[in-house]
Amino acid sequence: MTVKEKITELFELNRGKYLSGAEIARKLECTRGAVWKAVKALQDEGYEITASTNKGYRLEENTDVITAEGIKKYLDAPEKFDLHIFKTVDSTNTRLKEIAVSGAAEGTVVISGEQTGGKGRLGRSFFSPSDTGLYMSVLLRPRMSASEAIKITTAAAVAVAETIERLSGKQTRIKWVNDVYLENKKICGILTEASFGLENGGLEYAVLGIGVNAYEPDGGFPENVRDIAGSVFPQRIRDMRSRLAAGILNGFMKRYLDLSDPACCEDYRNRLMWRGERISIISGAGAVPAVLKDTDTDYRLIVEYPDGSIGKISSGEISIRKA
Ligand code: BTN
Repeated sequence: MTVKEKITELFELNRGKYLSGAEIARKLECTRGAVWKAVKALQDEGYEITASTNKGYRLEENTDVITAEGIKKYLDAPEKFDLHIFKTVDSTNTRLKEIAVSGAAEGTVVISGEQTGGKGRLGRSFFSPSDTGLYMSVLLRPRMSASEAIKITTAAAVAVAETIERLSGKQTRIKWVNDVYLENKKICGILTEASFGLENGGLEYAVLGIGVNAYEPDGGFPENVRDIAGSVFPQRIRDMRSRLAAGILNGFMKRYLDLSDPACCEDYRNRLMWRGERISIISGAGAVPAVLKDTDTDYRLIVEYPDGSIGKISSGEISIRKA
């Protein structure tokens, strides 16, 4: 074990308590300089360690830093995942695709504390500021047709919704097809990117990207998303983003075993937002008014148009908005 690993363990056992530099150095049989260096490195990784001239160092009780070890503690089957944690990347989906082409296995996961080029659906960007969100991509190698790939996104939406409900005690809603809402604010977006083989056109791999706004970003959300975006927790909670990550992975993998399970569809439909309400269906051709009725077992949106006719819409290049 390195000094840094030993210090991490010591701090974890003594969260919220001051430990003097001399005491740490004695316990770990190293110099006080080595202690200082390790503390600095941990602070850089996001550990909230307060340094006081008289009292020493204290790992703050509610530190919520994302580490592989921290996530594994909460995973049902840690051996099924290969976790790659970064402080900052352009996009976890992009980074994971780079790893996927060199043959990485299903269950390879990239998580970052920040994204400088987070991607959303329909070519939009996803605001991904440092240390307040969970930005995670999961590599999947399913045997399925392109038309079924939507079920990856919807199963993930259900896993996110359930995990957030369990951890926050609040009810979520799913906005068709891939957004999770809490108290009328979007707190999660999902972007699944699939790669198809040139020879048989089959799905080679899929990168499931999930972004959750765990906490309010410093300075709030930017102007262009301020009215829509929200966060799950009002203040930082110990290990919360690790618990979120593990809960989502556990819940998703359970559903991934059978993506056509009607129970998953029920769990999705039970949370469907704007059921019975007037919406606008937005596509390249403009906005069309309709009433949102339901989704079917292929997660197509069932709508009623003003002339009384019923339509079934596949997600493709379409999004919906409240009218
Ligand atoms: C959307 O709201 O349209 C989808 C947003 C998806 C964001 C996640 S964050 C992790 C992964 N990496 C990305 O660049 N995008 C997804």
